Amino acid sequence: MSGTPKPDSHTETPSFDSVFRGELETLFRWRRDVRHFRRDPLPKGMVEHLLAMADLAPSVGNSQPWRFLQVTTEDSRARVVANFEDCNAQALANQDPDRQDLYASLKLEGLRASPVHLAVFCDEGTEQGHGLGQETMPETRRYSVVMAIHTLWLAARAQGVGVGWVSILNPADVARILNTPPDWTFVAYLCVGWPQDYTEVPELERLGWQARRTQMETVAR
Ligand SMILES: Cc1cc2nc3c(=O)[nH]c(=O)nc-3n(C[C@H](O)[C@H](O)[C@H](O)COP(=O)(O)O)c2cc1C
Repeated sequence: MSGTPKPDSHTETPSFDSVFRGELETLFRWRRDVRHFRRDPLPKGMVEHLLAMADLAPSVGNSQPWRFLQVTTEDSRARVVANFEDCNAQALANQDPDRQDLYASLKLEGLRASPVHLAVFCDEGTEQGHGLGQETMPETRRYSVVMAIHTLWLAARAQGVGVGWVSILNPADVARILNTPPDWTFVAYLCVGWPQDYTEVPELERLGWQARRTQMETVAR
């Protein structure tokens, strides 16, 4: 039966009212990158729920090339923390001298406290999707992975769960630590857990590193 379109399993198409739209906007406004976590665990099934939501993200050719690895062993987690520390020390050394103190004061990960670590990869060799859309733009596989991460991020926020994206890592080292297949590209390392608090303003804006700009400002140039 392959190739035969499946009938839509929904008999009723949902419609979204103004109350929902307002709440959705609030979700967008109050999604935060979280670096300050409580140490208590997430409820059973939460990670599975978030991964199921991530699976609903769009992807090139419907290839779903995202691979989420939950990093559970103390040894692997400790090696990732050490890798962050090395990379962050290098990043600090590379800052403009007049920004070094501010950079040094920033907390740029929640690796030690967050109960859940998810390393996210792109499977560059997946046959799912039969290559559709990827021939001239193979990078669309990685864009698809980012879509899944963002979907998970919003789904987590809707549950009150915090997500912090850590990119101050060496991709080759992370792949080595986690012993991943050679055709998986490292995309993100996510800290997941209960946040200590939530604010409407991004932490980097509150601490004077970089404020948000509006789309209007960007387009008006
Ligand atoms: C691709 C990507 C990589 C990021 N890497 C880091 C990181 O290594 N450390 C960190 O503290 N925040 C990181 N962030 C979070 C951003 O700092 C954050 O999204 C931005 O400051 C806006 O804040 P908000 O997410 O709370 O709105 C990353 C975000 C993205 C999308």
